[in-house]
Amino acid sequence: MEYQSNNNDNSNRVSSPKRSLPVNRVLHGDCIEVMRQLPAGSIDFILTDPPYLVNYLDRSGRTIQNDNNTDWLKPAFKEAYRVLRPNSFMVTFYGWNKVDRFMDAWRNAGFYVVGHLVFRKRYASKTRFLRYEHEQAYLLAKGRPALPENPIADVIDMPYSGNKIHPTQKPVEALLPLIEAFSKEGSLVLDPFCGSGSALVAARQLSRRYLGIELDLGHHAAASRQLAATHGRGIAAVAA
Ligand SMILES: C[S@@+](CC[C@H](N)C(=O)[O-])C[C@H]1O[C@@H](n2cnc3c(N)ncnc32)[C@H](O)[C@@H]1O
Repeated sequence: MEYQSNNNDNSNRVSSPKRSLPVNRVLHGDCIEVMRQLPAGSIDFILTDPPYLVNYLDRSGRTIQNDNNTDWLKPAFKEAYRVLRPNSFMVTFYGWNKVDRFMDAWRNAGFYVVGHLVFRKRYASKTRFLRYEHEQAYLLAKGRPALPENPIADVIDMPYSGNKIHPTQKPVEALLPLIEAFSKEGSLVLDPFCGSGSALVAARQLSRRYLGIELDLGHHAAASRQLAATHGRGIAAVAA
């Protein structure tokens, strides 16, 4: 498969596998196939928010592609591991009631589990046996990365994003500490399930290079618009 970028410049289209590394782009396609075209070890940090495997359906009828099956889990994280530079990190959100499936896929790919993050919300996304007021992610390592100079806390506040441009939109503010802690200025940050592009905007705000992949055409367009706006405004203005 040949992937498509949000850029009109055809030079970003890759016609043969593993030929070049697109940067500061949002690519449209299945992340498994797109990552297969990327060179091994070419990504410095992965921050991603894959489907939670919960058959998501919101009040206005919005759904999430691939939230109803696990076919993509193992191949996607296998490719994520391959493209990640040795001795570096991936932070990935996950659905808490499917933790066994996610953990199996991460370990099968080769990742070590080195931390767990809780994102404290001031509202409940659902109320049933509990008021469900947090999101969660694992910090996973490929190889043995050096310890961060200033380790961040594993509990982070997560304000409500409003979910205006994506049904499960993460607020950029909650992602900034992760980008800061696990990558450096100029690092290449990948989000293979980028949705509306929140992680990419966070990377851009912190002067990292970014690469996003999104399967849904509408979300790909939304992410492309978000990133185009950050480029238009410049990093300082976006961070303000
Ligand atoms: C939980 S959402 C990410 C939301 C994002 N963090 C945001 O703030 O907007 C997961 C996204 O993964 C996309 N997706 C599902 N399967 C995919 C695949 N195989 N390749 C690329 N994207 C995929 C979905 O369309 C959805 O937008």
